[in-house]
Amino acid sequence: MTKAVQLQAVAILVPRDFSDHAVERIDRTFKCIRIEHADPALVTDEMRRGVRGIAAFAGINAAMMDALPNLELIASFGVGYDSVDVGHAAAKNIMVTNTPDVLTEEVADTAIGLLINTVRDLPRAETWLRDGSWVRKGNYPLSRLTLRGRKAGIFGMGRIGQAIARRLEAFGLPVAYHNRRKVDGLSYQYHPTLKGLAEVVDTLISVAPGGASTEKAVNAEILSALGANGVFVNIGRGSTVDEAALAAALANGAIAAAGLDVFADEPNVPKALLDAPNTSLLPHVGSASDHTRRAMADLCVDNLVSWFTERRPLTSVPETVHVRARS
Ligand code: NAP
Ligand code: 8YV
Repeated sequence: MTKAVQLQAVAILVPRDFSDHAVERIDRTFKCIRIEHADPALVTDEMRRGVRGIAAFAGINAAMMDALPNLELIASFGVGYDSVDVGHAAAKNIMVTNTPDVLTEEVADTAIGLLINTVRDLPRAETWLRDGSWVRKGNYPLSRLTLRGRKAGIFGMGRIGQAIARRLEAFGLPVAYHNRRKVDGLSYQYHPTLKGLAEVVDTLISVAPGGASTEKAVNAEILSALGANGVFVNIGRGSTVDEAALAAALANGAIAAAGLDVFADEPNVPKALLDAPNTSLLPHVGSASDHTRRAMADLCVDNLVSWFTERRPLTSVPETVHVRARS
């Protein structure tokens, strides 16, 4: 029997909101079972008996894992996996994979676009042209802020952080960063605390993962350290920011402006951030091009194929690297 024929018998559960390209490949290769969303209450007996893998965008919690006793692998779509209970997966010998690297440059491009939009007010300038204000009222007002002379700080100097730093260098901006650990071989100035970083830069770009260790790390104290000329950009996770403190800092002039691609309760965006004249907002589109989402979908499915043919993943998350395939 060929590997392809064997794979047709492997049941993979796919919650509804998922990449079309990934679904097509899973459907062609495995026995694809769709479910409205990853809710243990929707798990049927057939799923309970048969499902060995899940491919999903959004969170998989402990109860969902417990509802599927034969689950071996969760192939998560995206590099951030804070919505998967990886501690529970590791304890239950369930492998978790993500999609690193293939989206790095795209997300870094988006971060730079968002930074420039925020500093130079380009989205509002375009609205000025489109709504006829240029004809009726004349030139768009000069932007209060500029990228010139700024010093950038990166919170989360990993794969994407380094790609952003390379772009900032090309723009002529000095770069510093904060991680829990200094990165070997990087010449950028390292700060062991986020506050220390915020004190020496005026442009803070967060690309740190979500989760307990970064929850509301960007708070009133950090924003006040960034200062009145400060610009904050978040392309990492909304949970890393105290959004109420951010809205207050934008309103009272503690910082100058913010550019946000991610929010704590997506797709809901706090009204204070929507209404603020000094925010530039995007609906979590960091990696959202056809090109990059297709590459992410392929890596997500390639992890499933590798696991169920070679019995090893391509890109395990660090927490489950020790997990071995059941015989
Ligand atoms: P990565 O290579 O793992 O980098 C993450 C960096 O954050 C590491 O350098 C890590 O260094 C640092 N970090 C982690 N926890 C920290 C903490 N508690 N305090 C300080 N630094 C911490 O990941 P990546 O590929 O660059 O992706 C980063 C994140 O970007 C993802 O997790 C995801 O949330 C987000 N993302 C967003 C989009 C979007 O569409 N907006 C797209 C892709 C990714 P240490 O371990 O030394 O602390
Ligand atoms: C995706 C992301 O939008 O990779 C990530 O961590 O946040 C984005 O690339 C998301 O994963 C889609 O669910």
